[in-house]
Amino acid sequence: MSSRERGKAEEEAKHPSSREGRFSFAPASADLDPVAGAGASPQDPARRRRLPVIAIDGPAGAGKSTVARSVAAALGYTYIDTGAMYRAVALAALEAGIPPGDAEAVSRVAREVDVRLRDGGRPRLLLAGRDVTDRLRSPEVEAVVSTVAAHGEVRRVLVALQRRLAAEGGVVLDGRDTGTHVVPDADCKVFLTASVEERARRRLRQLQREGYRMDLGEVAEEIRRRDAMDSGREVAPLRPAPDALVLDTTGMTVSGVVQLILDRCRQLGARRRDR
Ligand code: DC
Repeated sequence: MSSRERGKAEEEAKHPSSREGRFSFAPASADLDPVAGAGASPQDPARRRRLPVIAIDGPAGAGKSTVARSVAAALGYTYIDTGAMYRAVALAALEAGIPPGDAEAVSRVAREVDVRLRDGGRPRLLLAGRDVTDRLRSPEVEAVVSTVAAHGEVRRVLVALQRRLAAEGGVVLDGRDTGTHVVPDADCKVFLTASVEERARRRLRQLQREGYRMDLGEVAEEIRRRDAMDSGREVAPLRPAPDALVLDTTGMTVSGVVQLILDRCRQLGARRRDR
């Protein structure tokens, strides 16, 4: 990237031009700058959409983020964790003492909060300049995020942002509605699932690694509750896109799942981006 372009990106990161208020998952580092495909002119957005968009959806604990991050790394694409965006709004609402069910107040948080996504290595999320990545998966956020994500206006703000980030291609999105709603024209769609028991075991391991103490029954109950809310909500409910590859990952290894997705996406035209 030339120094002029970098200056522009830094300016955009400081003063996002989003019409969605201050909520900006704008590039906080050069890594998230949408690099053009080989030979594409940075001035020509139509020509820049050279690289595919990959959408990986599925219920809580299906292993999407681990898998999506690995797929993105293997292809040199940008990983966009859409769940982290809903979690950031939930955390900001909690910190402001706003009840998660208050649609109007939570929507205001989504429009006004200053959130940045920093890609590269492990993606980090900054809330008003503070790195809150490690708090996004806390049980407090977990307990309210599905309620926050069910508000139509919150979704409108975040989906607009997700579409902007995906517009250039060369991205892997992970979420619930990315293949059906955010980027329905994605080049490669995958829906990951696994039994509730398996998902609860994986989630418990992750929570334990992060220092949280919960038992398997509690985690399984939380997963069932979120499944019901995510699938039953009116706006963009969780369901596989008709053209998605549906993979039940129960008993599969992460590398096995990643390989299957890479094979599928390569068949559909995905190729590595060299940064
Ligand atoms: O993927 P995750 O567990 O980090 O997602 C957190 C919550 O956000 C989940 O309960 C559902 C919601 N979500 C959503 O509604 N749509 C998305 N695209 C991603 C997440």
